[in-house]
Amino acid sequence: QVLIKDLYRNTESFVGQKVELSGWVRTIRDSKTFGFIELNDGSFFKGVQIVFDEQLDNYKEITKFPISSSIKVEGDFIHTPQAKQPFEIKAMAIILEGSSNVDYPLQKKKHSFEYLRTIAHLRPRTNTFSAVFRIRSLASYALHKFFQERGFVYVHTPIITGSDTEGAGEMFRVTTLDLDNLPKNEEGKIDTTQDFFEKESNLTVSGQLNAEAYALAFRNVYTFGPTFRAENSNTARHAAEFWMVEPELAFAELPDVMNLGEDMVKYVINYVLEEAPEEMNFFNSFIEKGLLERLEQARTADFGRVTYSEAIEILKNSGENFGYPVEWGLDLQTEHERYLCEKVFKRPLFVTDYPKEIKAFYMRLNEDGKTVAATDLLVPGIGELIGGSQREEREEVLLQKIKDLGMNEEDYWWYLELRKYGGTKHSGFGIGFERLIMYLTGMTNIRDVIPFPRTPGNAEF
Ligand code: 4AD
Ligand code: MG
Repeated sequence: QVLIKDLYRNTESFVGQKVELSGWVRTIRDSKTFGFIELNDGSFFKGVQIVFDEQLDNYKEITKFPISSSIKVEGDFIHTPQAKQPFEIKAMAIILEGSSNVDYPLQKKKHSFEYLRTIAHLRPRTNTFSAVFRIRSLASYALHKFFQERGFVYVHTPIITGSDTEGAGEMFRVTTLDLDNLPKNEEGKIDTTQDFFEKESNLTVSGQLNAEAYALAFRNVYTFGPTFRAENSNTARHAAEFWMVEPELAFAELPDVMNLGEDMVKYVINYVLEEAPEEMNFFNSFIEKGLLERLEQARTADFGRVTYSEAIEILKNSGENFGYPVEWGLDLQTEHERYLCEKVFKRPLFVTDYPKEIKAFYMRLNEDGKTVAATDLLVPGIGELIGGSQREEREEVLLQKIKDLGMNEEDYWWYLELRKYGGTKHSGFGIGFERLIMYLTGMTNIRDVIPFPRTPGNAEF
């Protein structure tokens, strides 16, 4: 058996050959004496045309194959370099493997993305989702390739954890306690020591703290795994379960990881453009006009860089009404972020040195005592794609911060020890993998770049 991908990539080698294919019927039409099947086998974005005629014993039966039936085809490879399709298969035998029901929902008509979410088990068979999920696969490989080529060690950080890395309290509890009969301690609180892990545990929001421990042993490491947030934000850019890539570098300062992030984004763009030109052209034609131009610019131009304080001035002087106040000390909203990278800088933009109050406890305090060495990478169409920082390596400064925020010092004993035993400057970031896929494809809803999305009220499939 051959794959359709090979027919497209090595066309010349099939001239004059007999081939055997298997796949699903995408479309089928016939006249009295001959017919055409567009066959898709999943190996390639495009299908192949099968020509069949009444010389086949089962001609009548074939003309009645419902769309999406799975079939096996034997035939001659016919080279047609002048035609729109560079080749077709002249069938000598067509065998039905599995028929399809006539109520198959993906008939040849355009369906809305909203509708297709309700049939998440079937949508990978459509052009759009076939393209999205092949890009998702290629982009994840490209990220591994990028870090491995640079000698980074891939660390598997735990999914179940006792620490809240971001300190935002947006975690899913993991418990084996009987919810109808919760054990209580003397204070009347739930006695978590009776739980499986003998302490309260949650699904991880980020692997960063564990990655820091490994960076202080391997120097350069990265994670790539699922993370979970119980934030009830029903937006097109937030999911309850999403994948994050988190590099962490010892002996590195903030600009080092900004450079790394810029190189990484450019590398992945190059990789998908090279490996999946058919899919990328499809997105450019049908999902976002101008996508290829936008990616070409990101791939070649230097990303912008601006401090948070400068960004606030720009936003204040813009004369725009964003619907959210702009004031030094307030966090940037998506509207602000998109205005900065889309209208002012017109390219991906690193914003740095945010007020310490709006950022996580582990970020390194700057000399001014007011800001931290943090950065967000903002990109057109999305807003925040990357969040990162230099980490607070000074034990006493970190401890004070943990106390000031009323966090439980004991929970962080091991994290504090990293500062005690050969601590060093170190920095890292996290990139939201789904947001990267949205950025690469022009898809505008995070639900449409995750095979089976988990968002508030949605755990079907
Ligand atoms: O900015 P965040 O919260 O940073 C961290 O978690 C750090 N510990 C990362 C680090 O320095 N190692 O999240 C990082 C990125 C965001 O920039 C965003 O792209 C994505 O993760 N993200 C989400 N993506 C989808 N749905 C959500 N609910 C997301 N929350 C964050
Ligand atoms: Mg962030």
